[in-house]
Amino acid sequence: MSANQMSAEMTAVFSRDLHHKYPVAVRGSGMCLYDQHDREYLDMCGGAAVSCLGHQHPAVIGALQKQISQMAYAHTAFFSNEPQEQLATQLVQAFGDEGARAYFACGGSEANETAMKFAWQYWRARKQPTKVKIISRTHSYHGNTFGALSASGHPARRSIMGDILLDWPRIDPCYAYRYRQAGETEEEYGARAAQLLEQMIEREGADTIAAFIVEPVAGASLGVVCAAKGYFAKIRAICDRHDILLIADEVMCGTGRTGTFFAHEQEGFRPDIVTLAKGLGGGYQPLAATIVNAKISNFFAKNAAGFAHGHTYAGHAAACAAGVAVMQTINQQNLLAAVRAKGAQFGSLLKTTLSAHPNIGDIRGRGLFWAIEFVQNKATKEAPDGGAAIAKQLKDTAMRHGLMCYPGGGDPGQGLNCHILLAPPYIIEQHHMDQAMIKLTATIAEVFGA
Ligand SMILES: Cc1ncc(COP(=O)(O)O)c(C=O)c1O
Repeated sequence: MSANQMSAEMTAVFSRDLHHKYPVAVRGSGMCLYDQHDREYLDMCGGAAVSCLGHQHPAVIGALQKQISQMAYAHTAFFSNEPQEQLATQLVQAFGDEGARAYFACGGSEANETAMKFAWQYWRARKQPTKVKIISRTHSYHGNTFGALSASGHPARRSIMGDILLDWPRIDPCYAYRYRQAGETEEEYGARAAQLLEQMIEREGADTIAAFIVEPVAGASLGVVCAAKGYFAKIRAICDRHDILLIADEVMCGTGRTGTFFAHEQEGFRPDIVTLAKGLGGGYQPLAATIVNAKISNFFAKNAAGFAHGHTYAGHAAACAAGVAVMQTINQQNLLAAVRAKGAQFGSLLKTTLSAHPNIGDIRGRGLFWAIEFVQNKATKEAPDGGAAIAKQLKDTAMRHGLMCYPGGGDPGQGLNCHILLAPPYIIEQHHMDQAMIKLTATIAEVFGA
């Protein structure tokens, strides 16, 4: 059946929303995707912050074609492969800790599951088997598999699972727009927010806690929230003091999205474990990495039992070849500097174009990672009722205007905000930004009124 003949009624796909009629994407080019009617969509979110080099980038396509024509797959229980070796070396160099190692998987959830397994097996091998809990933050999202969702604090995504998930401790995020108190400096707020971790560890007992997992820049669940100054330095010190591993989930905010290869670089701390996905494969292949520091990696190397884990597609040669090409393109085309410069331009354009709107409470971001938070009342910051439905309406309306933006948040009853996320490819140019402003303004006017 051709794409033109397909209809939602005829589909055999168990799609994300069985009540929604999805257009069929048939081709991509640069900043745009095209559907079966050749309708153009300006991709201002890279899907979910995935397509960091845009669509059909010739360098990645070329590298993939070369690898697949030579050898697509060799099971990692039998062989290593060149792209996996090369990608691991590049990632460890970027991480800057000689002796660190990278473990490859297919997506962010798998990468975070792997990170947690590293933590559990590490403590077990160090004869501290009671250290099992993973502390996370409320409103966080670390993936949809059982462990990753158990470690997520996103109420809507958790509540559908009832009591099935493990209920590990969670602390409030560092979210100045909503939680910083009047009269409090940024540093004071950062210190107070970090102190929540220390209090939680003391309450639960450090001997029961394996790790703290956190996004250095909170992505889709909160809407690009950067921590207050000093927050992460304090978090790092607290984890060290209590012998707790620090996992940085950079599935969304990593791979250059915020203007440095790792988002944690700008926060001045180094995690014990960092996970990457989305942008690492750039949408060309399903790819994720869990990077463990030299301390953990050397420990497993010396321990006879090693690390017990594995997936059939771990370290897939074609996927890793895509990752190598993405990283090389970012380096060769100086795209980290481009993300910083274009991100600053994009942010100020968003603010000048939209911040006067009565239902826009906050426009925030870093690099090419931005969010617009919507409110019912600008002065009180009251979130709109039915925030999740409004965010979805914004996404659907934007699609009708030929624009892709990523909806987020949920209902105020669950303590969530209403926002859309913008994470355009690093190849964005001024004219794409101008076009995006026109489409965004029209979308917001249609949903909220001008
Ligand atoms: C921060 C973060 N971690 C983990 C995940 C899960 O990644 P995946 O959907 O590739 O399993 C996501 C996905 O949106 C994410 O944003």
